[in-house]
Amino acid sequence: MRQLLNSTFEGTLRVPGDKSITHRSLMLAALAEGRTEIKQPLKSEDTYRTMEIMRAIGADITELDDKWIIESKGHEHLHSPSAALYTGNSGTTSRLIIGLLAGVGLRAEFSGDDSINKRPMDRVQKPLLEMGADIRLKDEKYPPVHIFPKPLKAIDYNMPIASAQVKSAILLAGLFAEGTTVVRESSPSRDHSEIMMQQFGADLVSKDGVISLEGKKTLKASDVTVPGDISSAAFPIALAILKPGASITIENVSLNPTRSGILEVLEMMGADMHIETLPGGGEAIGNITASYTPELRGFNISGEIIPRLIDEIPILALLAAYSSEPCTVSDAEELRFKETDRIRAVVDELSKFGIRFEEKEDGFTVIPGSIDSVPETDVKGYHDHRIIMMLIVFSIVSDTPLNIDDSSAIDISYPGFINDLESLRKDA
Ligand code: S3P
Repeated sequence: MRQLLNSTFEGTLRVPGDKSITHRSLMLAALAEGRTEIKQPLKSEDTYRTMEIMRAIGADITELDDKWIIESKGHEHLHSPSAALYTGNSGTTSRLIIGLLAGVGLRAEFSGDDSINKRPMDRVQKPLLEMGADIRLKDEKYPPVHIFPKPLKAIDYNMPIASAQVKSAILLAGLFAEGTTVVRESSPSRDHSEIMMQQFGADLVSKDGVISLEGKKTLKASDVTVPGDISSAAFPIALAILKPGASITIENVSLNPTRSGILEVLEMMGADMHIETLPGGGEAIGNITASYTPELRGFNISGEIIPRLIDEIPILALLAAYSSEPCTVSDAEELRFKETDRIRAVVDELSKFGIRFEEKEDGFTVIPGSIDSVPETDVKGYHDHRIIMMLIVFSIVSDTPLNIDDSSAIDISYPGFINDLESLRKDA
């Protein structure tokens, strides 16, 4: 990583495939009858956890260089796993499989790593119990999760929090429930499940925050081409904006509006950025070029935009530190329930460099000021991929060598992150 300091960055990059879409394509392919090709999937720690679980319940998966092939006889032929399942660090795997396993009517038990075993699962359990499922949690909240087969009936559910994982778990269960499942969202969360379920033949309608899904329909296999993950692209984009002389183009990234809140904030900040949309059906995609911007304006974000950029808030905090005006994030208490408490992690680590925060329960304000030049500092990554990548971008932008306690968690969403940055080094 130190070779990346005192460099400038220029060029074109393709970031790895979208994590949310890769998880969902594995699950829907396992449920569907036939042969699904997933092209350019994200090959990472988290998505391999989903793959192993789909194999454990009977999907036949072949891994080729640039694609995965899933063959399934359909949900009726899936079976209960013979051993306890392991979801590692993956919140999406953990939440979504509760809905999938309960929906198909399988008996299963799973837990994850230390972080997952402290993350709340009752938010998924609650609506599924209303559907008639039998799901038991440790201390009524955490993994290990035990799921027992029970017939399900459709519910009409008002989402108490904006969470695509909870929404998707309900929809996965709803695919096999008796009746029409309705989910109502007050703020839109990512809608990949809805788009992909329609593509796989589900009878699903989504309009004005209300999703209706008919149960008891058989899914049909359908090929998926996974676009680049905007949550991964956010790191080289921030690097380009903050590093003098830099200009980076990220090709073929998902521009799904339920994910692209970060681009709206970068526009508010006056970042030098150009977006080219590309033709195609399904998920919106495009190329993003970002370049060094010496003067960045402030922002004040809350409400409906928050779920559309929830995973980008650590890197937004870093961008905010370089703004000449205050930057405020509110309504983001969900950040405290991610891989780590991301509000605490961002404030604790960036404060070591004199960056001033006013921390709130649901966010923070970054106060403009200078960033201390520190010779060499120990920082913590909290085994959280997005905190670690943010710290690496900070290290490069500030030319400050950082000793990160453990950076292996990068592999959760972006294996090859350091190599990709290396490939953009002008003097490489
Ligand atoms: C995800 C949904 C979001 C996001 C996570 C991936 C998904 O979580 O933070 O990284 O793929 O559905 P919540 O549903 O908890 O908001």
